[in-house]
Amino acid sequence: MDYFPIFLRLSTEPVLVVGGGEVAARKIELLLRAGARVTVVAPELNPELAARAAAGEIEHILGEFHPELLDGKRLAIAATDKHSVNAWVAHQAERRNVPVNVVDDRELSRFIVPAIVDRSPVVVAVGSSGEAPVLTRRLRERLESFLPQRLGILAKLAGSLRSAVKERIARPSNRRRFWESFFDGEIASDVLSGRAEADSEETRKRLEGVLEDKVHASVRPGEVALVGAGPGDPGLLTLRALRALQNADVVLYDRLVSEEVLDLARRDADRIYVGKAAGAAHVSQQEINDLLVRLAKEGKRVCRLKGGDPFIFGRGGEELEALAAEGISFEVVPGITAAAGCAAYAGIPLTHRDHAQALTFVTGHCKGETDRVDWALLARPGQTTVFYMGLGHLENIAAKLQAHGVPADRAAAVIEEGTRAEQRVVTGTLADLPAKVRAADVKSPALLIVGEVARLHDTLRWFNSTAAQRPTLLGPDAWAYATQSEGRLSA
Ligand SMILES: C[S@@+](CC[C@H](N)C(=O)[O-])C[C@H]1O[C@@H](n2cnc3c(N)ncnc32)[C@H](O)[C@@H]1O
Repeated sequence: MDYFPIFLRLSTEPVLVVGGGEVAARKIELLLRAGARVTVVAPELNPELAARAAAGEIEHILGEFHPELLDGKRLAIAATDKHSVNAWVAHQAERRNVPVNVVDDRELSRFIVPAIVDRSPVVVAVGSSGEAPVLTRRLRERLESFLPQRLGILAKLAGSLRSAVKERIARPSNRRRFWESFFDGEIASDVLSGRAEADSEETRKRLEGVLEDKVHASVRPGEVALVGAGPGDPGLLTLRALRALQNADVVLYDRLVSEEVLDLARRDADRIYVGKAAGAAHVSQQEINDLLVRLAKEGKRVCRLKGGDPFIFGRGGEELEALAAEGISFEVVPGITAAAGCAAYAGIPLTHRDHAQALTFVTGHCKGETDRVDWALLARPGQTTVFYMGLGHLENIAAKLQAHGVPADRAAAVIEEGTRAEQRVVTGTLADLPAKVRAADVKSPALLIVGEVARLHDTLRWFNSTAAQRPTLLGPDAWAYATQSEGRLSA
């Protein structure tokens, strides 16, 4: 991040603007909306600014800029059409530690002014650190059309209720729940649509009722959302998963959950890592179950985040059994399992009319004692088999399948870090794939797909992982995601 984003309270604070033209007028309009005391220095003013000066809204100093004008100012804006003057203003402001903006010159500026959507008191600021002003404008336009006009009225109504809510709901996490259900609820929707006036007696009464209900409801215990985070690309997260992440007080996550997905949790949520990692102490399943129960009993909303889908080789069932035994309420949010995600991003359809009419997901932990796999079943033709956790057992799997009659030239593929920027796909046959995978030094997580469908990778591959950007901007807006995904389509 190149700039630190802040909202600055400027009410009655002195600000210097150098320049009296249209550009200066635009900035002054904004400064006045924020309540600043504006002094403009310029040899002449455009008609709009002259009118403002005449009306006493701004102070006008007739003449050229001189450094002493900066003394005691909170901010300075240089908006003349002369680069040398702007540079001089910037230099002098810097010397005096007065934050300065030179319009359209980020090199000379200490701060830049974002594009805004004003629904005061809600103000949304968008900036691109000066890199892509047109993109910033497009985003602003989209926000402008997306954010209800009466948002500010709703925010003011919420503000007027704050202290009453604080008084009656002591616990911060319960208060947050109250506000979430308030903003998602009927009153908010009526105020936003104009069906209800924020300051009417009727709205007051309805609010009283809701607050009363919530005071009682807010003593309820915590709950757990068991959420599938998908195989890595945050764009594959479901909307429901996103919501669970943003509502959670605590997020418990595994090794396979990507950083980008975790970033979507609420900023102030506690994040607890419960996966396995080299060098880190291993948290046992029993400890995870106990932790989930304890946190829920403390009244927390817990998001238990698992790679892929929580019910597919994820031990999600065991965690829910522990919660059910303690009477703790939970929900399950399915995720895109690695097989679906990796196959899609590798251009390998898991079923195909010509090649595979059946599909099996198998755990690759299948050696010696742990081998409970029905190899004869998997050896039947016309099917695809996906092995999870099979990387370390690749030779064994290939040998077992061949021993049960699968031809050595049966197509197969290993996908490493599927759906992520680092994705790699190694294809071959049962006979040669193990050696190819070792030669490529494939690392976990990796998924093995066995079946003739794997041959389709050559023609259907589309995901250009080397060009892939990691998307961080998510939302229901397909445009935003599509813009980010452009670089991912292979030629
Ligand atoms: C314990 S299982 C968890 C499966 C997960 N619940 C799911 O539905 O995808 C872990 C295995 O999933 C596979 N896996 C998960 N994410 C993957 C990814 N991004 N790329 C390749 N394989 C992945 C690997 O085989 C890994 O060893």
